[in-house]
Amino acid sequence: MKLLLENIKELVQVEDQPVLFRAGKEMAKVNTIKNAFLIIRDEVIEDFGPMDQLKDKYLDDDLLIEIDCSNRLVYPSFCDSHTHLVYAAPREKEFVDRIKGLSYEEIARRGGGILNSAKLLHETSEEELYESAMERLWEIVKMGTGAVEIKSGYGLNTEDELKMLRVIQQIKRTSPICVRANFLGAHAIPLGYKNNPSEYVDIIINEMIPQVAAEELADFIDVFCDQGFFSVEDTERILMAGLKYGLRPKIHANELGLTGGIQAGVKYNALSVDHLEYVGEDEIAALIDSETMPTVLPGAAFFLNMKLSPVREMIEAGLPVALASDFNPGSSPSGNMSLISAMGCINFKMLPEEVINATTLNTAYAMGISESYGSIARGKIANLFITTEIPGIEYLPYAYGSNLIETVIINGEVQNF
Ligand code: NIG
Ligand code: FE
Repeated sequence: MKLLLENIKELVQVEDQPVLFRAGKEMAKVNTIKNAFLIIRDEVIEDFGPMDQLKDKYLDDDLLIEIDCSNRLVYPSFCDSHTHLVYAAPREKEFVDRIKGLSYEEIARRGGGILNSAKLLHETSEEELYESAMERLWEIVKMGTGAVEIKSGYGLNTEDELKMLRVIQQIKRTSPICVRANFLGAHAIPLGYKNNPSEYVDIIINEMIPQVAAEELADFIDVFCDQGFFSVEDTERILMAGLKYGLRPKIHANELGLTGGIQAGVKYNALSVDHLEYVGEDEIAALIDSETMPTVLPGAAFFLNMKLSPVREMIEAGLPVALASDFNPGSSPSGNMSLISAMGCINFKMLPEEVINATTLNTAYAMGISESYGSIARGKIANLFITTEIPGIEYLPYAYGSNLIETVIINGEVQNF
């Protein structure tokens, strides 16, 4: 089947010669076509261009469904390269504890936080986890996300980590959007191993990783390498073990301090290092010329009132930056990538164009899928959205409280929610 989107006021993030990501000054460049058409055949983008080049043959094709996009913009779907959207229950009580003055780390030390989510996950069936995660997944699809990475990490023992990863696999099989699975057995140190974390690391290495690999349950491996969580030494042991089984790292680093997590990620050729509230010259130097995508999570910084990652310095140093939601019950209970885009502009002083690259192409790279997602390019998967009537690309991050996404197309099919 063919779909023709016509009279598009502005077709955004168009590529004739696709690149894998954009870095430094290039991040401020987004190609667009005004008064454009776009043709989708089956699940793939077939052609696009200015309306006056729309060939007559397409108009005679009776298998063609036409959508008039007058006054509307068309964007490639967001790619959200960092989420924890499989979880048993929200943690709004901890939200109130933090309002009253407790810190995220204090809550974690008392057995709240990630450990609290692990306890709840243990008590919840795979079916229930799947159902609630699919509700969240549909919620983000509605909000314009067309590819998502999902982490484990609320299991924290072999059985429950595998259970979580199987739920993610079931989501992968049944979800209309592209899903990538990340094994995060090293998300927190379980209470029983508090005084001997390396024993838990041994379990991750000797039990969990071989089983995750045997059942092909994950695309990536993650570690929360930070103060009070996993040390650089333990992180390196885990990443090395994962690499032996073909699991490429994509890790949490430098959220709580200058811990060396970024350097450890680069050393093991991580596809991305994520959070990055604490970044200095050494971290920037390590990232330059690496294949690792620096990924910032504005929702977590906003929700936990954290120090902001020096995004401008990183871009000015020539680095690429990606922005993801970190959708999770503890530090970022939202997967709204339009809101993340607004935060990119408002809090991190990114230009609207930089934010578009950071939430589409660069996050696609951070999931290893930028050859098929992240821009409007011939042959890429037709995951995109049509906005309401808006004046231009600045308006989306500007009108941060409005829902400006009117129509979502996934794999070339218009979604009816
Ligand atoms: O990315 N920083 C570590 N992990 C998550 C938080 C998970 C939670 O609090 O449940 C994050 O922010
Ligand atoms: Fe996270």
